[in-house]
Amino acid sequence: MIRFFAKCNTLVVNSMSAKILVIDDEDSMCHFMEIMLSKEGYTVDTTTSGTEGISLVKKQPYDLVIADLNMPEMTGIDVLRRVKSFKEDQDFIVMTAYASVDTAIEAMKQGAVDYITKPFKIDEIKIAIEKNLRRKQLQIENDNLKRQLQGDNSFDKFIGVSEPVIKLKKLAERIAGTDSTVLIRGESGTGKDLIAKAIHHNSPRSNGPFVTINCAALPENLLESELFGHKKGSFTGAIKDKEGLFKVADGGTFFLDEVGNTSMALQVKLLRVLEDKKIVPVGGTKPIQVDVRLIAATNADLEDEVKAGRFRADLFYRLNVIPIFIPPLRERQEDIVILANYFVSKYCEKMKIPVKTISPEALDCLRTYHWPGNVRELENTIERAVLLSRTKELTLNDFPERLTEPSQVEIVKDTQPSSPTLESIEKAYIHYVMSETGGKKSEAARILGIDTSTLYRKIDRYKLKDFSTRKTSQFRSKEPKT
Ligand SMILES: Nc1ncnc2c1ncn2[C@@H]1O[C@H](COP(=O)(O)OP(=O)(O)OP(=O)(O)O)[C@@H](O)[C@H]1O
Ligand SMILES: [Mg+2]
Repeated sequence: MIRFFAKCNTLVVNSMSAKILVIDDEDSMCHFMEIMLSKEGYTVDTTTSGTEGISLVKKQPYDLVIADLNMPEMTGIDVLRRVKSFKEDQDFIVMTAYASVDTAIEAMKQGAVDYITKPFKIDEIKIAIEKNLRRKQLQIENDNLKRQLQGDNSFDKFIGVSEPVIKLKKLAERIAGTDSTVLIRGESGTGKDLIAKAIHHNSPRSNGPFVTINCAALPENLLESELFGHKKGSFTGAIKDKEGLFKVADGGTFFLDEVGNTSMALQVKLLRVLEDKKIVPVGGTKPIQVDVRLIAATNADLEDEVKAGRFRADLFYRLNVIPIFIPPLRERQEDIVILANYFVSKYCEKMKIPVKTISPEALDCLRTYHWPGNVRELENTIERAVLLSRTKELTLNDFPERLTEPSQVEIVKDTQPSSPTLESIEKAYIHYVMSETGGKKSEAARILGIDTSTLYRKIDRYKLKDFSTRKTSQFRSKEPKT
């Protein structure tokens, strides 16, 4: 029975390819554990120094730390205490040659999950490790189940039935459990934030912080001090030390949004974080160790930026370890109806009204419209329709007229026969919406499904100026029907 149990565990545990750190002042013990545990399929690091053991735990995640209690430089309990002070959930087994109940109890009080007395039989240590890794795995599964039951940030919230969406969700689910850097790409409003959060919440770091920053939203110097922190007096206004967001994200995930908008100087520093997991605050000299998983997102064509010399190739390759591409909504029409119905339910529920339906005619329009603002635009459109409609069924009247107009993609194609770029489509569309709204930026941003600061940036980038108003506005505000 026990053997079967142990065997089962081995299978499960090995499939996790757990990483174990052994700290023992005796070289022979380190050597033995390394050989024995590697043979079992574990990844093993060993050290004879407690201090080095602590810095190893700081640098990388271990599923289990096994430390000897009786060491000259620093006792196993000291190591345990120090590790727990910065990594509370680190699993720890202590080994003691002195089978004194007192030391073992003390170690358990300080947070060790188990202890083993030396000399031990090989099976004893194997079973102790398997048991504890299994317990940890069950805990992770349990947390995941809880999260799924709460419907909280699981991948199920990323709605879609198209092949690319199914594939990208599978990929995101698979890599959530790893510590790899992820680069999420896709146009504005395709769900990059949503996927980044889901990856974090389904990762072993889910109990840690999820910190996000939009690189396009801040000027360079402010961005640097936000990311890395600053020392008091390092610039005018730095009246006290400030902790950087990378430090705030310690033990969790850092989401670097619009990473294409960073300066070359900042890119060097980001590279350093990725390579050494170290940050240096502005005005400081001492590097600070941080344990973060990086997820970056961009809607820019980073390969082009690299070619143009605006983005460092080495950083690009470092970020692009696992690329996830979310296609624009117009390229996955199969997702539109299910998303539309999902948003109808969401907003009806929010408004505490019975769920409405969408007329077949309106659904057709939703399906064929080209959604330049992607899912965000669809969501805003549905929210507005639910809010304004007084009937059980949402009909064409509840949607903006732009949905029934010929697609802007077609218009751009007419004027630019040589295959339009996404940028030229976006530019043309923004110009169109701005003209329709008579240059009112907040109204235009709402229709485009982007925020005003993004709109300002895009107007600037595309050098859009002349917004002559058309006689009849396609985007009139609709009064609720009486
Ligand atoms: N597949 C999806 N299922 C459900 N909701 C979605 C999906 N994709 C996007 N959304 C919703 O659309 C809105 C925009 O998504 P999100 O903010 O993640 O886009 P983004 O790609 O990060 O955009 P930006 O580049 O402008 O930052 C959010 O409210 C999000 O919840
Ligand atoms: Mg975003």
